[in-house]
Amino acid sequence: MTKRFFIQTWGCQMNDHDGEKLTGVMVQEGYVEVNSSKEADVVILNTCSIREKAVHKVFSELGRLKKEKLQRPLTIGVTGCLAQQEQSHLFTRAPQIDFVLGTMALEKLPHILSQAQIKGEKGIDVEHYPDNHLFPTEIAKRKPTAKALVTIIEGCNHACTYCIVPRTRGIERSRPYQSIIDEVIRLIDQGYREIELLGQNVNSYAGGCNFTELLRRVSALKGLEWLRFTTSHPMNFTKELAHEIVTNPRIAPFLHLPVQSGSNAVLKRMLREYTIEEYLERLDYLGSSRSSICLSTDFIVGFPGETESDFQQTLDLLDYVQFESSFSFIYSLRPGTAAVRLKDDLPAEVKQERLVRLQSRQAHWTLLDNQNMIGKVVDARIENPILNENGFWVGRMGSSKTLHLKEKVGYIPQMGELVSARITAASPHFLGAELV
Ligand code: SAH
Ligand code: SF4
Ligand code: F3S
Repeated sequence: MTKRFFIQTWGCQMNDHDGEKLTGVMVQEGYVEVNSSKEADVVILNTCSIREKAVHKVFSELGRLKKEKLQRPLTIGVTGCLAQQEQSHLFTRAPQIDFVLGTMALEKLPHILSQAQIKGEKGIDVEHYPDNHLFPTEIAKRKPTAKALVTIIEGCNHACTYCIVPRTRGIERSRPYQSIIDEVIRLIDQGYREIELLGQNVNSYAGGCNFTELLRRVSALKGLEWLRFTTSHPMNFTKELAHEIVTNPRIAPFLHLPVQSGSNAVLKRMLREYTIEEYLERLDYLGSSRSSICLSTDFIVGFPGETESDFQQTLDLLDYVQFESSFSFIYSLRPGTAAVRLKDDLPAEVKQERLVRLQSRQAHWTLLDNQNMIGKVVDARIENPILNENGFWVGRMGSSKTLHLKEKVGYIPQMGELVSARITAASPHFLGAELV
């Protein structure tokens, strides 16, 4: 009888890619992937624990699966960052779970699964396998997307006081560059034209060359059109890297450089290792080419002890740099992190109100930038060749901006195709465009 599985993934792109690796392992074990938990014999929740909300989503799904399990045989597994963080405590909190697999143990899935299914025992492997970054990626089963994700470094050696990631992903391990090159060549052969290199901190890459050199080597591969990477820590952002980004035409003109706060007092408590002056100095490395790069960042609001004046400095920084885009979050206490010891007495309404102010200020700058694009002709990659509910094809520019392309009668775009488009309309979230 066919054995069927379903994986639900939350979190960052690295976790998405881990989901693709787990899918590959399951397919190798003879399982067939299905599109919903209802049709599956094995359900894997590939989790994120970056903020409390992400964890809530997992427990709410576990609650739903518990009911399904009462009606039919079902094996439930938890993988990803919550699995690594909570380990066997998960069995106590949710006894319907059959196995727990940490972020460094993906290759152990068949063993753990058979322990849970054949022996009927709870399966767990949350060991730190220091060479898990050597996972045989040829077995990963990628989603049919326009760009392929490639992990180059796992773990994080920084120690931001709010962040759970060093605990869930371990210390930095860089994949040897030749293995990355071999994988990208294979992906280009399979038809991918865009690659995104992944790591918690890509610019501390050290797998036989530095990150700038890796970008040079990968971008030189024949057939590759755009190379992207995420995420960068400002303290590992060098002049050499900035120069490569602005001069190499195959590196997509986009840089995500998380700043977190505009206040030096808050940055210090976050242990971000830089001051705002040092952050701005790093941006200056981009020189006059800064204007041709889409600059994006992350902000945390309501960090313990953040005063109105600290928050105002964050708004001032946003107005000064005029980031083209940003992701902003209300601080969420993570168990076991150093920030737990800081007094957090800011009322929830104040945090919420600051988030709204920050996001509306960002919408202002993004809209302005988008409006300046109207009339321009740009390259964009088709990310969904099927018309969306409003009758548009979705494309993405090198700068990462989303395009809603008007249908052209008689034209059938291909997934991942690079097209030329004229920008016709702007909103804070996407650009309207037509094919030229
Ligand atoms: N490695 C990346 C960050 C990954 S987490 C880096 O250092 O840039 C992505 C973002 O989530 C962070 O940049 C931060 O803005 C946010 N974040 C992390 N921990 C958080 C927490 N405890 N509460 C709220 N936001 C958090
Ligand atoms: Fe977390 Fe800081 Fe490491 Fe990013 S650099 S993953 S925010 S500890
Ligand atoms: Fe979440 Fe882990 Fe990624 S906590 S953001 S899935 S590294």
